[in-house]
Amino acid sequence: MLLLITTFLVTLVTTAYLYVKYVFSYWKRRGLPFVQPTLPYGGFGPVFRKEKGFSQHLHDLYRSSDAPILGIFASIRPALLIRDPKVIRDILIKDFQHFWHRGFHYDESVDPLAGNLFSQSGDKWREMRTKLSPAFTSGKLKAMFETIVECGKPLEKHLKKLAAKNKEVEVRDIFARFTTNVIASVAFGIEIDCFENPDDEFKKYAWRFFEPKFKHVIRFNLSFFSPFLMKLFKVRFADKDVEEFMKDTIKKNLDYREKNSISRKDFFQLLVQVRNTGNVVDDGADWTTKATNDPKSMSLDDIAAQAYDFFIAGYESSSTTMSFCLYELCRDPETKDKAYEEIVNVLQKHDGHLSYESLSEMKYLDNCIDETLRLHPPFEFISRECTKDYRVADTNVVIENGTPIFISVTGPHYDSKYYTEPERFNPDRFKDDLNVNKNSQTMPFLSFGDGPRNCIAARLGKIQSKIGVCLLLKKFSFELGEQHINKPLILNPMSGVRAPISGIKLKVQPR
Ligand code: HEM
Repeated sequence: MLLLITTFLVTLVTTAYLYVKYVFSYWKRRGLPFVQPTLPYGGFGPVFRKEKGFSQHLHDLYRSSDAPILGIFASIRPALLIRDPKVIRDILIKDFQHFWHRGFHYDESVDPLAGNLFSQSGDKWREMRTKLSPAFTSGKLKAMFETIVECGKPLEKHLKKLAAKNKEVEVRDIFARFTTNVIASVAFGIEIDCFENPDDEFKKYAWRFFEPKFKHVIRFNLSFFSPFLMKLFKVRFADKDVEEFMKDTIKKNLDYREKNSISRKDFFQLLVQVRNTGNVVDDGADWTTKATNDPKSMSLDDIAAQAYDFFIAGYESSSTTMSFCLYELCRDPETKDKAYEEIVNVLQKHDGHLSYESLSEMKYLDNCIDETLRLHPPFEFISRECTKDYRVADTNVVIENGTPIFISVTGPHYDSKYYTEPERFNPDRFKDDLNVNKNSQTMPFLSFGDGPRNCIAARLGKIQSKIGVCLLLKKFSFELGEQHINKPLILNPMSGVRAPISGIKLKVQPR
């Protein structure tokens, strides 16, 4: 009996060993340079050991090689890091039909809020993207502009109080409250004030997603590394109580608007329009929501999932951009003065009114935001999954269906091949719209992704970030806090977006 068990165990271990050895030779067999894997994490040991964040690790892998395409192992799953801008463009744009999937695995039956545009794949994604794209036209953004600027009032009021105390302020926290107010308003259609009510219920539930907890790191990594374990353990992105709160908020608001035929110019209204009619209203048409007993498309769960997605994708990204922008301006006071002068001059021309038009005239501020996004992209990597075997142009490399694809955003952004003095904050690089996605061959710019699956709300993200920085620079003067003088920022490896461990602290005074 003992002999039988021993033989069985030896066979099992030997088979497992040979299997893993075979899997780990995958890229070698295909003649690609690759990162030597180890069990159980493949090429991602430092991430699981909490030594580095996922994005930082991809950035370091980018820098460690010259290969256009680098084989890696996500645990025992063969994956690829694409380094070459031409191959990146082929994958994201030209040959997108081979790379539909974001490669993010979730189970809608246990986690309905995760069934949103960001995570969906295939036809579901295409249909949803087609339905939602008209909600992000410049006409719609123009119509929502005043709603966003309104959210700036509590921001200014709060900063006035802090500036009077002559203390350093944590700008990440301040901008996070501002964007929470904005997205609660435009995506959920509710007005909240996270400055006056720091314990606001919506904020409490909504912020949970980005809390830098090890549990969040694990579920994020599993979603890429092991769809099987995600399903097996029914891993959720949104906790059950968060899901219930979000759905309840949506339901109450929907009932209220339908009962009272309320019209408000926000995304929530547009989501309800899609539910009731199948389409977003045309620019300039009546936005009023009329009650329906016969929804044409989108269930209540769908609306909740999309609104939650807009929050998750939009709040940290924009607040991170504003915070880093102020930080970089303070590090280089010449740029700060130039941005301030432009704001004053443009507003003077428009009788002090911050409108869609006056904001569009602030070109230097626009360049500052682009340069901030280059140096500090909130989402530091882009992912796709191959959905149909694909041969990389001018090579014999075939990417097999199901292979996860990673692209480091900071890799090319910090590469001196594409940007001279890449570590320097230099908004003039983007003068006269020099590049941003137009000239991506010479200066790859990936902060909003690219191709049919790029950020659907890139314009809104920029507008919101410009508004935040403009409102504060106009009324207050900022300087670096003591902790940042001559010291680099240390990034938090546990954070889902680019975030310094110590936050961003600035001295603030009224002008
Ligand atoms: C400065 C602010 C923002 C940045 C830097 C940013 C960046 C990104 C990036 C890198 C992606 C992935 C693109 C790709 O895979 O090619 C993305 C996708 C997305 N973003 Fe943004 N984003 C910002 C603001 C927003 C806002 C305000 C919203 C919503 C209100 C939003 C909604 C989305 C959605 C829904 C997707 C998924 C699109 C799809 O898969 O079809 N983003 N964003």
